[in-house]
Amino acid sequence: MLSTSMLLFLCFIGIVLLGGVKPSHGLVRNYTFELTNSAHSRLCTNKTMLTINGQFPGPTIYARRGDLVNVVVINSADHNITIHWHGVKMPRYPWSDGPEFVTQCPISPGTRFNQRIVLSDEEGTLWWHAHSDWSRNSVYGALIILPPRGESYPFRKPYHEVPILLGDWFNRDVQEIMEEFLASGGDPEVSDSFLINGQPGDLHPCSKQDIFRLKVESGKTYLLRIVNAVMNNIMFFKIANHNVTVVGTDAAYTKPLTSDYIAISPGQTIDLLLVANQPPSHYYMASRAYATGTNFDSTNTTAILEYAGNYTPPASPAFPSFPPFDSTAASHNFTTQLRSLASQKYPVDVPKNVTDTLFFTLSMNLRPCANDSCAGPNSERLLASVNNVTLQLPRTDFLQAYYGNINGVYTTDFPDNPPFPFNYTGDWNLTSPLLRPQNGTSVNVLDFNATVELVFQGTSFVGGIGHPMHLHGYSFYVVGSGFGNFNWTRDPLNYNLVDPPLMETIAVPRNGWTAIRFKANNPGVWFMHCHFERHVSWGMGMVFIVKDGPGLDEKMLPPPPDMPLC
Ligand code: C2O
Ligand code: CU
Repeated sequence: MLSTSMLLFLCFIGIVLLGGVKPSHGLVRNYTFELTNSAHSRLCTNKTMLTINGQFPGPTIYARRGDLVNVVVINSADHNITIHWHGVKMPRYPWSDGPEFVTQCPISPGTRFNQRIVLSDEEGTLWWHAHSDWSRNSVYGALIILPPRGESYPFRKPYHEVPILLGDWFNRDVQEIMEEFLASGGDPEVSDSFLINGQPGDLHPCSKQDIFRLKVESGKTYLLRIVNAVMNNIMFFKIANHNVTVVGTDAAYTKPLTSDYIAISPGQTIDLLLVANQPPSHYYMASRAYATGTNFDSTNTTAILEYAGNYTPPASPAFPSFPPFDSTAASHNFTTQLRSLASQKYPVDVPKNVTDTLFFTLSMNLRPCANDSCAGPNSERLLASVNNVTLQLPRTDFLQAYYGNINGVYTTDFPDNPPFPFNYTGDWNLTSPLLRPQNGTSVNVLDFNATVELVFQGTSFVGGIGHPMHLHGYSFYVVGSGFGNFNWTRDPLNYNLVDPPLMETIAVPRNGWTAIRFKANNPGVWFMHCHFERHVSWGMGMVFIVKDGPGLDEKMLPPPPDMPLC
């Protein structure tokens, strides 16, 4: 038997080791992530790529609500890395959040960093991924947060749970692809296939065996935890002959929503129930892009839903019929049907009295190159911006500069509104001077407990496209969205303040707008960006600093001793 003093001593050691970070109400769980280059082959191509523990997709982290997950990240590869815990709010502890040059310097080869993943009210499916260069293409995995021990889901208990990670495969090295398109000023090359749980499926060359099989028993219910880890595309996902029922997104429960397909943004997660209620057979589940341009991977990735029993499997399983690739309606209609569960146990807390109103334009942009030498439209360079600011990351990180009062790293003038109003979704031609963005390394400062309404306004520059916007450190309520220019008098009248979905990534529709609300109650430095990797590479991101509050438990915690150095 341990004596009380022994227990106290062990607790003390634990707290010292964890740098003062304690689980909010759960347990401490430990993982080791070793980054290495490992060999993988898909689509008749062998390559080495960065992976965690040699696995692709990477290891799944399991935890319960309120746990503290301690991950030792060891860089045994030849490339800098950072790891982000996508959708984890990290209350008062941005130090382990992960975005390179925003909250930390990279973990360089031969070094390690102990990251503390501070779970609070998240429950459901999240994920983790590299947040430096384009490494997240192969460095990602699921983060599954179960209800606390003894508590159940707010839906019928599933017979089995299965993570379904959508990803993509490039035959070429992604680091090379990234360097090339950033040098040329044009679009990056598109992926060679999408993946379900790391497999392209049997419609691709050399991939007869490279397919994920989900074995089910007739009559049983399965919980599919879907993560979109794709680099550059919103995806449609569908199972032939089966409906699915969405019960959660971004680690928050939703009202059950039954549909025969889903649309999921990069960064977003969707938990859904699948009932094996069709005649025993093999059925394809498949995923393909929603894309409005012409430059995209138009292939299907497949997995097989395989019923148990004695039957002759069909020579080729039934294939789901998808909405057209460019169906903005299909993407938008699905997303706008999501609603918070809003039950007694899982209430909503939508801010009603807004103190800070922000209006952010999301634009593609062009910038002329010397001698018309760039590979973008008009021989110019493709860029992207928020409120016409193209984010330039500093050489050190924002968080360290903020915490250490280091001057000259960033400015605090990130604008609340675009520099001037214009017809955001009008017919702009490529030569308009409006398309020219300014470079900036600026932050928008929010007071502790400010109640923020942020309206994202898409623009039609360079054709216009939807943007999956992701905010670190928070979840937000999506209170409204629509097409065209946001109207300040008319559109707020239609906000849903009763049961809007609680999310951390939301697709702003092409040439439209989305309004979100959140309470700035998590002090720190938090990245917000488009989760299309090419767009964030082009500068579509900005940084919020949320100030400390007056209370002792309303201030940022101090940094751990092993923060990576630049
Ligand atoms: Cu999933 Cu800043 O990212
Ligand atoms: Cu974008």
